[in-house]
Amino acid sequence: MYPTSIPITASVLFYLLCILSLLTFQAYAWIDYPSDGLATMTHYGLPKDFVAACGCTPTSTHYPTAALSQMAYGSARAYGPACGKCFNLTLVNPVTATPPFFPPVTTFIVVKVTDLCPLSGNGWCSATEDKPNAAGAFLNFDLAFPSDAIPADFFPSDEATYGYKDFGVWNITYQTVSCLPNWNGANDAFALGSVDSSGGDSVCCPANPTGNTNDTCPSFSDANGIPPDTTTSPAGKAAAPTTPICILQIILTAVIFTL
Ligand SMILES: *[C@@H]1O[C@H](CO)[C@@H](O)[C@H](O)[C@H]1NC(C)=O
Ligand SMILES: *[C@@H]1O[C@H](CO)[C@@H](O)[C@H](O)[C@H]1NC(C)=O
Ligand SMILES: *[C@@H]1O[C@H](CO)[C@@H](O)[C@H](O)[C@H]1NC(C)=O
Repeated sequence: MYPTSIPITASVLFYLLCILSLLTFQAYAWIDYPSDGLATMTHYGLPKDFVAACGCTPTSTHYPTAALSQMAYGSARAYGPACGKCFNLTLVNPVTATPPFFPPVTTFIVVKVTDLCPLSGNGWCSATEDKPNAAGAFLNFDLAFPSDAIPADFFPSDEATYGYKDFGVWNITYQTVSCLPNWNGANDAFALGSVDSSGGDSVCCPANPTGNTNDTCPSFSDANGIPPDTTTSPAGKAAAPTTPICILQIILTAVIFTL
């Protein structure tokens, strides 16, 4: 087997590093968030009638929708457990305003999650289980806005003081709510459910998910053995390529010992 003690030491070290890398890899778990809490909100352009990551019907875009940050969404691709869920989002204050801006009115909106906001560098959707985003939040709701479904003045502003209207990112509070009857699209059958998946697309958009396995989407990533895509995060970059090598090495060793 091993001619000298040096390769043995090296191989023990290799296995220790392997175990360590597998453990590091495991650290990228989906975020198990409370039903109510603090979050941040950004906004993005979602074309009307566009079918986003969950595969909700085009008509869902006629009502307020949002993308949720990847590790809370629960999948790196296609659908995740957050798909179809509804949240009541209340604006608190903008994260980046100097001096701090506190809106004179309280605005809130009930959204349905129809899309995935991918992990990216230090972006607002970059929170992982052990690292919040730059505002200290573990969830970011990326509101589809502007939208015919949301008043144009939804985000309070003070252009006279700040010289601009759009603060970009807001501290918010979120509340998990039942989509029926709270979401504005609740009475429109065309806005509920998923698109026809007979074309082979992976879709899952329940009308009113409650968190029970019988009415809530699984994680497309988990179901297909796709790990959370952490390629933009330095730790993920280091851990990801070693995992297959470790598994290969373990299989090879097993084969060698069997022969
Ligand atoms: C949403 O939150 C606001 C307060 O921020 C509250 O007035 C409103 O009733 C809530 N709506 C639902 C459906 O929970
Ligand atoms: C936004 O919320 C975070 C977390 O509660 C807080 O630390 C931060 O000070 C808030 N930002 C502003 C501008 O108030
Ligand atoms: C899902 O399961 C829950 C609890 O097990 C049950 O109360 C509910 O009726 C089920 N819903 C559907 C749509 O089957």
